[in-house]
Amino acid sequence: MEQYAVYGGNPLVGEVEIGGAKNAALPILAASLMTDETVLIENMPDVRDTNILLDAMQGIGAHVERVDRHSVKVNASRIHDLVVEGDSVKKIRASYYFLGSLLGKYKKATVVLPGGCDIGCRAIDQHIKGFKALGASVKIAHGMITAEADHLMGSHVYLDVVSVGATINIMMAAVLAEGRTTIENAAKEPHVVDLANFLNSMGANIKGAGTDVIRIRGVEKLHRTEYVIIPDQIEAGTFLFAAAVTKGDITVRNVIPKHLESISAKLSEIGCEVHESDDAVRVACSHSLHHTQVKTLPYPGFPTDMQPQIAVALGLSHGTSIVTESIFENRFRYVEELIRMGASIKVEGNTAIIDGVPRYTGASISAPDLRAGAALVIAALAAEGFSVVDDIRYIERGYEDFHIKLKHLGAQIEKVESERELQKFRLKIS
Ligand code: UD1
Repeated sequence: MEQYAVYGGNPLVGEVEIGGAKNAALPILAASLMTDETVLIENMPDVRDTNILLDAMQGIGAHVERVDRHSVKVNASRIHDLVVEGDSVKKIRASYYFLGSLLGKYKKATVVLPGGCDIGCRAIDQHIKGFKALGASVKIAHGMITAEADHLMGSHVYLDVVSVGATINIMMAAVLAEGRTTIENAAKEPHVVDLANFLNSMGANIKGAGTDVIRIRGVEKLHRTEYVIIPDQIEAGTFLFAAAVTKGDITVRNVIPKHLESISAKLSEIGCEVHESDDAVRVACSHSLHHTQVKTLPYPGFPTDMQPQIAVALGLSHGTSIVTESIFENRFRYVEELIRMGASIKVEGNTAIIDGVPRYTGASISAPDLRAGAALVIAALAAEGFSVVDDIRYIERGYEDFHIKLKHLGAQIEKVESERELQKFRLKIS
């Protein structure tokens, strides 16, 4: 089983190139099936989730050509199957994007019910409500969800909760529906906007993405495009918090600083120096961090996907901090692991009360999910001594070359596959 072996204590210093946004890449891949013409997608992150989606697309007949590590051409003119299933697809949340894209184009789709990180109940009622509003029938049986319609008609959909996934799925289904669709209380995340831009570049007519009202005028068909995916705000934010936690100095490059505003604001608030330029953000932090309060919220609020990373930083701050998780109910599973490293954190409902400690100490820990896993690696990099991080497959779902990028910043970290390799790492360090 692959693990990260970590020897903590080094401030991380240097520059890191940020890849394409996983959460934009996933719906963009699904949407690339909506034309019979060839689509070129660039700045595609080479992470487990995108690769699983690409395999699933090939499985139903799409032709996928990898131009280079971060560029892919998709041609979906020969889709022969509208059922997307399999163990890998089941494990990732974004498999449900095939519902919106295939329903939109072929008026029928069956997809294995989605998994993803175990961070809460993760209902899909709003997706279903949207498909039904467009005239589809939706059935769930034997672990599969089927949406189908003779004809999709534009409609008015009000989302009861702000949902990234539902906004994206309804947007995809509505693009080729007849007439106009309005999505109210829509999610405003940068990846929602990126998908809308992608679809518009294929001939769709979507207005208002990035606000809470999205208006879509259905078109007859979509055409070829060449598109560059936006940078990953969460990957960038994770490295910026790595600077804060290790008292380092990191510049993230190829980012859109505007997308990082809530993250940069919190970093300033806890006492880090933050410098922004056109496509880079630098965070330097040489003294102890201040305590603060933070509540996760839909964009432009502080992202739930950054909650574990800020908690790891606040665990080393001066004073008591409060972290409130308002999006997912099961997102504090990393706290137990962090306590093993010496953190002082009490979780009450959706709130974590964090009393800062001067340092963490190395321990054997497990990544409970993608973002928490990355946060625990950062904690290990700041901790005194050795740590071993298990279950790193979660981290690899969303971070490309995570340990390699950290190494370039001066981290002492190695991916190991056996006890022997672990011992070798220990010997090399000591
Ligand atoms: C996406 C991201 C995930 C991020 C989350 C919130 C992807 C692949 N994943 O997940 O990394 O943490 O946005 O920014 O892009 N809800 C319902 N009914 C629904 C849909 C959602 O009640 O039909 C609830 C969820 O349980 C949750 C909240 O709405 O409490 C937000 O979920 P949503 O925005 O849909 O998250 P995902 O799209 O699953």
